[in-house]
Amino acid sequence: MRKRALGNTGVEVTELALGTWGLSGDGYGAVVAAEVDRVIDAALSHGIELFDTADVYAKGAIETKLGERIPKGKGFVVTKIGTDLAAQPIRKRFDPSFLEESLDRSAERLKRPLDIVLLHNPTQAALEKAECVGFMREQKNIGKMRLWGVSAGSADVARTAIEQGAEVVELAYNLTLPGDLHAIAGEASQRGTGILARSVLAYGLLAGHWTQDREFYPGDHRADRWTREELRIRVSQLEGLREVASKYVLTLRAAALRFALANDLVSSAVLGPRSVAQLEQLIREAGSEPPYLRDTMLVELSAKLEAAGIKL
Ligand SMILES: NC(=O)c1ccc[n+]([C@@H]2O[C@H](COP(=O)([O-])OP(=O)(O)OC[C@H]3O[C@@H](n4cnc5c(N)ncnc54)[C@H](OP(=O)(O)O)[C@@H]3O)[C@@H](O)[C@H]2O)c1
Repeated sequence: MRKRALGNTGVEVTELALGTWGLSGDGYGAVVAAEVDRVIDAALSHGIELFDTADVYAKGAIETKLGERIPKGKGFVVTKIGTDLAAQPIRKRFDPSFLEESLDRSAERLKRPLDIVLLHNPTQAALEKAECVGFMREQKNIGKMRLWGVSAGSADVARTAIEQGAEVVELAYNLTLPGDLHAIAGEASQRGTGILARSVLAYGLLAGHWTQDREFYPGDHRADRWTREELRIRVSQLEGLREVASKYVLTLRAAALRFALANDLVSSAVLGPRSVAQLEQLIREAGSEPPYLRDTMLVELSAKLEAAGIKL
């Protein structure tokens, strides 16, 4: 498994990471506990050393699981804090006292010193308030975590995070949503921010198997994410991309993975498998070394994206 520098943090990470939201049962439906174990173990045995989680995934149970299965002294764990599950209704909280308790709980569950801690989807206003940023900097300085950063839901939040000195930013980056990372590329490379690209399959859409009338089970976040019409448009946008993918890398899924890895700014692509079979397919199709996408393919993909109305 190749490694890349995580911006200018001095840390190197494997260019594929195991994301664990899909394993938590929260966003996409249940996964049996034994399969969760097998996916984590398979990731380790394939050389993946970066694991992405959050304190809220399965109400902390995924952090506990990672703490149990990742050997001591091995790997890096990215976790995220800033959601108060005990509040009614559940709410985002970025005040220092809540964050401090959250850090302690995560460290206890992970059974290791905290490696990388991200504020989990703060609004721009929360970040601009700066008390949470000051707190994270201070906690890093006293050795509570190795690196701090922000998991950003938009280019604006990512830009604010970079301006506030976040060492790591995680954001969605895929063939249907390339624009957010492109919008902050200048600032990120100038500041040496480590970039983790998530949702590289656009929540499964870019695996390329969906029909326009694909149904999702209740509780699957994708049931609420798109209207019928939006889903129809999204599936139809894939045709041009599939045509280019089949010419160069066989599958749309391979093109999607390699699109993320082809961007030098991306330190790691955070995968979201729900089974060992999916994980191994993703590792195989991602390719093992550059060039992940030939320049001619990138040019053709860009043309198809523009024709499909996707902003680069
Ligand atoms: N705000 C945040 O911090 C945030 C937000 C989102 C994600 N993340 C992190 O990023 C990780 C990945 O994000 P994501 O869930 O948005 O990822 P994604 O990779 O875009 O989509 C994951 C979905 O794709 C499908 N899939 C995965 N491997 C496949 C394969 N080999 N063939 C066909 N379909 C496949 C699965 O759904 P089906 O098989 O059910 O179709 C899976 O649930 C998460 O686990 C989490 O760690 C963080």
